[in-house]
Amino acid sequence: MTFEHDTFDPEALVPGYHEPVLPEGEPDAATIAASETRTRHWSSEQPGKHVKYGSPEHKSMMCRMFEETFNPYRPSVLKWPTLDEAALHRITSLPIWDIAVQTEGKARLRMAAYARTVADPQMRNALAQNAWEENRHKEVLSKMVRHYGIPLVPEPPYEYPQDPEWAYLVTGYSECIDSFFAFGLFKVAHDSGLFPPELIDTFEPVMQEECRHILLFANWVAWHRRNLNLFQRIAFEWKVFRVWCFLGLERMELAKSLDADGNEQTQDNNFTVTGAQSVTAQDLSVAQLMATCLSENDRRFSGYDPRLLRPTTMPFMVRLALPVLNFFERRKQRKPG
Ligand SMILES: [Fe+2]
Ligand SMILES: [Fe+2]
Repeated sequence: MTFEHDTFDPEALVPGYHEPVLPEGEPDAATIAASETRTRHWSSEQPGKHVKYGSPEHKSMMCRMFEETFNPYRPSVLKWPTLDEAALHRITSLPIWDIAVQTEGKARLRMAAYARTVADPQMRNALAQNAWEENRHKEVLSKMVRHYGIPLVPEPPYEYPQDPEWAYLVTGYSECIDSFFAFGLFKVAHDSGLFPPELIDTFEPVMQEECRHILLFANWVAWHRRNLNLFQRIAFEWKVFRVWCFLGLERMELAKSLDADGNEQTQDNNFTVTGAQSVTAQDLSVAQLMATCLSENDRRFSGYDPRLLRPTTMPFMVRLALPVLNFFERRKQRKPG
């Protein structure tokens, strides 16, 4: 089954799901501020220091977090500031727009396809809502691309996944990797002064939404694996292992094609790692960028109930790598010339 790029109907795809009703018109500053606070801070009234992962309480906690931190912005009323020539060039020449639009296009369908298979109505609804939000990201990007006249290649039709669980795992873990780097890059872009603050503000809800998405995903993985019998669990862990191998290979392939043929590769899936120099005039070392990614990751998750699990793989790996990166950085600085 294939879908054209502008057709996405989560209500038709996911039984029992209803799209949120968004407020009409332009929100005032107080409404935006209230939504911003609500989307970043959430605690459950559930008593106790811990929650048992995989329990109905855990499921209800993550689903309520997702529902109650929803930010009801409407892509059509977002403001696109006028850019001076340099900023416009900086934006239009970022090698990410095709990949970004298509990634959201794939993510919405894969999430909805998996949501459709979930028996639990509360969890199914949360995952369908995540799919809806991916479609909203795609709308935000499409509106921006159109506003600034960024040329895009035609979108390919989106394929309905044959194995929705595999597709959801690939999407979820990809988001965990990409969001970790994107948080750091976004902060670097914010601090660089190279982009108008209004543009940064427009994308801020999208960034925080990705944080909510990977928070939900990390907790879904924990809940799901604890509700499998032994054989299902072994099959699931094997699938997770293969997903990580697939993602590692996919990223290495892209990095290789960039190294060998830098200019040919116009769209860069590894932009989150290689793109810092495009968003700041500062000469930022890899170690500095990674430290920023870590602190931004911690900051973005800090407002949510501490009993919910956070994605751990990327922060763990980067924390391990940082002393090594710092060591090489110091050696480079000591070398004359
Ligand atoms: Fe997204
Ligand atoms: Fe997402």
